[in-house]
Amino acid sequence: MQTGVPNATVPGSSPAAVIPATSRSVQRIGVPREVFPGEKRVATVPEVVEKLIKLGFKVVVESGAGDLANFSDDTYRAAGAEVVAGAAALWAAADIVFKVRGPTAEEVGLLREGGTLVSFIWPAQNPELMQQLAAKKATVLAIDALPRTLSRAQKMDALTSQAGVAGYRAVIEAANAFGRFFSGQITAAGKVPPAKVFIAGAGVAGLAAIGTAASLGAIVRANDTRAEVADQVVSLGGEFVQVDYVEEGSGGGGYAKVMSEGFQQAQREMYAKQAKDVDIIITTALIPGRPAPKLITAEMVRSMKPGSVIVDMAAEQGGNCELTEPGQAVVRHGVTIVGYTDLVSRLAKQSSTLYASNLFRLTEELCKTKDGIINVNMEDEAIRGLTVTKDGSITWPAPAPKVAAAPAAAAKPVAVVAKPKGGHGQSSEPASGSSMAITFGVAAVLFWLIGASAPAAFLSHFTVFVLACFVGYMVVWNVKPALHTPLMSVTNAISSIIAIGALVQVSPWIGTSNRPNDLISWVAAAAIVLTAINMFGGFAVTQRMLAMFRK
Ligand code: NAI
Repeated sequence: MQTGVPNATVPGSSPAAVIPATSRSVQRIGVPREVFPGEKRVATVPEVVEKLIKLGFKVVVESGAGDLANFSDDTYRAAGAEVVAGAAALWAAADIVFKVRGPTAEEVGLLREGGTLVSFIWPAQNPELMQQLAAKKATVLAIDALPRTLSRAQKMDALTSQAGVAGYRAVIEAANAFGRFFSGQITAAGKVPPAKVFIAGAGVAGLAAIGTAASLGAIVRANDTRAEVADQVVSLGGEFVQVDYVEEGSGGGGYAKVMSEGFQQAQREMYAKQAKDVDIIITTALIPGRPAPKLITAEMVRSMKPGSVIVDMAAEQGGNCELTEPGQAVVRHGVTIVGYTDLVSRLAKQSSTLYASNLFRLTEELCKTKDGIINVNMEDEAIRGLTVTKDGSITWPAPAPKVAAAPAAAAKPVAVVAKPKGGHGQSSEPASGSSMAITFGVAAVLFWLIGASAPAAFLSHFTVFVLACFVGYMVVWNVKPALHTPLMSVTNAISSIIAIGALVQVSPWIGTSNRPNDLISWVAAAAIVLTAINMFGGFAVTQRMLAMFRK
């Protein structure tokens, strides 16, 4: 394929960057400077340039593309990229363009006829852009259209990588606007209470915010309409606050749905209480394709303590707070409301590095032959999902992926979202009452039959056996799979109670001058040593595993 830019005459390229002419079929990946106002990210970074070159590609970067993310032209050159001056030269040189923000109309004009583009596109919100790209006979891979529930797709999930950065930055912005420490301290000058942070929405960004705020020492609480996130909140050091209303909150694919008016009323009551109590609120609540739900009313803002802070991460989608002004930080009723829409760009080096890594993983999938030529394989579910136009035909939306590695909740609907304090929560087990009754009935009849014919001694052992099975079942099956390893190791330790039997065997010679001289005593002594290893080892493994979940 024609690559467009003769290597030796690339303006601005250093001698070190001159790449020997390669086969005409090797494709050139182009990285332009982002033109969206305030966008500081860049679609690839020098470290990833080297990896792309190893995959067989040539890489061209527009001069200054990485400046705002602290990657100079020289670092790109050193990594083996060509650096070209000006957008026109870049777009003309590139067979495949890597971008962060969707292209402007001018950029679409610069895209080569039949070229390939990888960037955020948001096809549902940008039908006009889709038409323009189709008219260019382009093949466009929209990174936001990735089927995120495919486990294989997680390494390419730029929505997740960028949301994680935004969640972290939201806490940093809150800390910047807040006039106190996050952690509680006892100093010679007096006692400082820890800051209380409430996170609305515990998706990717919310969980990142919980982890960051907790690591700074704040007391963190969080709420989400999807019940399955409760454990994740706790594992990151937060407390999950439930809404006093039972309603399934999952809208499929790990996303939320619009809740009923009854739920929203109960949620508002809970949020109003939290607003009065906490110092910082970070809101991240979004529902795909809908305006952000309004969770923090003007009244709640008024009820907050002076000096409190709200960071509204949903500002771009209309905001979760009624008083948010997108793109601005404003003070209302003594509360600073941060509505920045560029949180990810405020950590441009980090977010660019993660984004570049996501695109590299995608490139690996597109170029399994490692020969610098991509193959947009529409039979591959992940690639199919991403591809929103192929050679000029609009292929969006893709059919839903067949295999989902979504959280367990996606495969098995959770019946309880919010368990009322009154205890009217339903069981999360879908098993009906009648099937339970039949099981118990059959078990009772069997037990009666055995009891009627078996000897009394057998019956007492059998009763203990049945009860042990029942208790074991209830203990193991009600434990989250992630906790099975610590559970097994502690069970292992407890099962080492066999040591008591061994102690009984060796006890006759303990404390006496007699030496053990029979085989049983030696076997018992060996059993004590082995079971001690099992016992203490089991507890030690359990502690280590649980420590991993605590932080
Ligand atoms: P998002 O940005 O669309 O939503 C953020 C959060 O707001 C969600 O957790 C949502 O439940 C919550 N929310 C919406 N309305 C709310 C309301 N009225 N009140 C309180 N909370 C509300 O979602 P995001 O963060 O992009 O992804 C959400 C989830 O999707 C992740 O937590 C994860 O479980 C799942 N996911 C799964 C993946 C996988 O299976 N590989 C990959 C990526 C995400």
